[in-house]
Amino acid sequence: MFNKKLVIVGASGAVGRVFIELLDEMYPGTKDLFLVASKRSAGRSMFCGKHEFIIQDIEEFDFSQVEIAFFSAGAETAEKYAPIAVSKGCIVIDNSSQFRTDLDKPLIVPEVNSKDLKNFKLPGIIANPNCSTAQLVVALKPIHDLFKIERVDVASYQSVSGTGKEGIDELLEQTESFLNKKEIKPRVYGAQIAFNVIPAGDILENNYTNEEMKMSFETNKILDKDIKLSATCSRVPVLFGHSLAVHVETKKEIDLNLLRDEIKKQKGLDIFDSQDFTSPNAVDHAEGKNPVSVGRLRLDLWKNNRINFWVVADNLRKGAALNSLQILDELL
Ligand code: A2P
Repeated sequence: MFNKKLVIVGASGAVGRVFIELLDEMYPGTKDLFLVASKRSAGRSMFCGKHEFIIQDIEEFDFSQVEIAFFSAGAETAEKYAPIAVSKGCIVIDNSSQFRTDLDKPLIVPEVNSKDLKNFKLPGIIANPNCSTAQLVVALKPIHDLFKIERVDVASYQSVSGTGKEGIDELLEQTESFLNKKEIKPRVYGAQIAFNVIPAGDILENNYTNEEMKMSFETNKILDKDIKLSATCSRVPVLFGHSLAVHVETKKEIDLNLLRDEIKKQKGLDIFDSQDFTSPNAVDHAEGKNPVSVGRLRLDLWKNNRINFWVVADNLRKGAALNSLQILDELL
């Protein structure tokens, strides 16, 4: 049972639901739980294990009743309500992009930089990274520890649940329309997502998307400010689980066996050994799973300080709810 009073803001959303599921898995019997969302969902009920909870409207919620507030309700909601929650004495963990770039707020992936929580004054706001960054930095850490990373190039294949429940609905509805030869009118994304691959995020003036820029900035904040990272982020017609093709250049020559051993030691990271000729995929090895999985680990064909690999993880778990619960674990 979780022994602090906790509110989930955005409980009815894609991440909120997984947060409730994880609470029940990790702390069965939790009762001191409040569920909050917008007016649209207020009054509806949800279960955490055997216990039923009624969703409350955020505008009427009193944050002084709780000690911890987990937010996954978008940047605007976080901007408005997270400071209110802190003023009432809550520790806030926010899953939106609202506070990630604030230099005075920690951005945490516990396996990588829990040290950044050490001198942080509570109550306060702690930011959870973008879902692709969370899984990426867990995979990069053993390489950086052993061989010092200089440069990273990433191509992401991100599932629609990264956009929330609207993204999931969009893919399902478009798939049905496509199969029934009905017209497809994109609502959530700029282009058809069913049976297609499109950029993830909005394209900015520098021609990178905001997802790509988040990955670069957040890797610097969490892992090392000197790592040079460029990304191409794509949205693919997958419901759950993000996949990444990662190419890393290091200062030192890479010893693949040493790296395999180091990955095996790292908490929260599974390796699919390339000697077994298997590779992790989103459906079988990410969806509903907690660890980040790395596979197809192979040295570059031309340089011995470059390595290429594949990473998958559940974007709603390690990319959001699980990472937040792990942050709480560190704090408490
Ligand atoms: P609601 O379901 O009532 O709209 P997702 O990331 O899957 O789109 O979910 C977003 C979550 O954030 C949902 O729980 C949603 O509630 C909630 N939310 C969105 N806008 C607001 C708001 N203005 N105030 C409170 N909760 C919000």
